[in-house]
Amino acid sequence: MQMKAIVVTDQAAGTAGMTLTERPEPSAAINDVIVEVHASGFVPDEGAWPSTWVDRAGRDRTPSILGHELAGVVTALGYGTTGLSVGQRVLGVSDWHRDGSLAEYVAIEARNLAPLPGDVDFTVGASLPISGLTAWQGLFPHGGLQSGQTVLAHGAAGAVGTMVTQLAREAGAYVIGTGRAADRQKALEFGAHEFVDLDSDTLEDVGGVDLVFDVIGGAIQQRSAALIRAGGTLVTVTGPTPVRPADGRTVDFVVEADPAGLSEIVRRVRDGRLRTNIGDIAPLDGAIAALTPTQRRTGKIIIRMRS
Ligand SMILES: NC(=O)c1ccc[n+]([C@@H]2O[C@H](COP(=O)([O-])OP(=O)(O)OC[C@H]3O[C@@H](n4cnc5c(N)ncnc54)[C@H](OP(=O)(O)O)[C@@H]3O)[C@@H](O)[C@H]2O)c1
Repeated sequence: MQMKAIVVTDQAAGTAGMTLTERPEPSAAINDVIVEVHASGFVPDEGAWPSTWVDRAGRDRTPSILGHELAGVVTALGYGTTGLSVGQRVLGVSDWHRDGSLAEYVAIEARNLAPLPGDVDFTVGASLPISGLTAWQGLFPHGGLQSGQTVLAHGAAGAVGTMVTQLAREAGAYVIGTGRAADRQKALEFGAHEFVDLDSDTLEDVGGVDLVFDVIGGAIQQRSAALIRAGGTLVTVTGPTPVRPADGRTVDFVVEADPAGLSEIVRRVRDGRLRTNIGDIAPLDGAIAALTPTQRRTGKIIIRMRS
């Protein structure tokens, strides 16, 4: 059986070369499930990730289906799969090195998925796994955030930054958000106590902070590290860096599938403590235009496979 999917084949063209095409429906390997995808998120720089182009052994794996966060319904179980059942609503992060979720179906390990309660819409579900878990893992297991600490949340109006801001504030932190001038209102609405416009305010005016959550890198990362108090942490999701606080540590990490963390995030969405940050929503047939916007994006782009 064939299915529709968003595919890339040419690394030089990157995600600009994506096409909507027919691909074989996946089959479930050991411990996999097949999920009928209802909605999928997308991180715009997937084209820059080596895992989009090669498998774990470094071999060309194109044509590659993009998209690594999803919400949908389990339709089949692989050999030996436990913990999920056919017909169950789920959300989660798919393996970076395997075909992704911008497709009608995806094969995914059951351990990458958490249950999606019936009162959480698939669109909301698909917006949570990567940005929600990145924020959760960066603040708590990696950043060791404690109540009363100060967090500098870069890109605070973005997909990750809005989650960082809300989770840090709920944990009792004082949150200083950053971004473009146009992001001020949104960052404050998502809970930042104050906002720094990186284009025209002086970052150093914020004084000392305990945790920097960096989604930008470069000179902003370097300047932010200098603001970290003794014992504090620079958490970055922009890749390995030599930058270290003078008396603190740096953690760079890639988000991991984590059903328990995802359930914590879903619980907070259901009880109103956490609000997701969705931008454009498009059907699969209109996905390419939505995924390659000509204007500045704000919020997570979600592609709906089924209405
Ligand atoms: N390692 C991991 O596990 C992991 C997980 C998730 C995301 N990430 C990475 O984290 C980054 C953010 O992801 P996201 O989904 O939150 O993206 P996003 O929704 O685009 O948010 C990023 C925000 O930061 C702002 N920003 C970036 N550079 C800036 C600068 N120099 N000055 C002021 N504002 C700036 C962006 O504004 P503009 O759009 O105007 O630049 C945007 O509002 C991406 O590079 C993504 O690949 C890594």
